Amino acid sequence: MPKITYITAAGVEHVVNASCGESAMQAAVSHRVPGIDGDCGGVAACGTCHVWVDQNWLDRIGPARPGIESEMLALTDGATPYSRLACQIELGDAHDGLLLRMPTDQH
Ligand code: FES
Repeated sequence: MPKITYITAAGVEHVVNASCGESAMQAAVSHRVPGIDGDCGGVAACGTCHVWVDQNWLDRIGPARPGIESEMLALTDGATPYSRLACQIELGDAHDGLLLRMPTDQH
């Protein structure tokens, strides 16, 4: 059961015990983490689950995938090389301790 830390734009940490196999978006929404909306249900079509992966984790998480994820991120404010759509990060035990930061707002 990986423990994921979400940090809001205001610096507030929300630590969630996620389930293996769910996405980082699903874990945030089911634990009511503010700042991750997941409006499209996880099909990379809304950009309301934009997160910045902590630099110490980017090698393990990997950059945004080419195609729909990268195209969606290109439409979001504040996208960087550390940006991912949380709905496209499938969690497993190897992600225990993952740190994700969120932008001020999602749209
Ligand atoms: S939930 Fe819509 S892009 Fe991730």
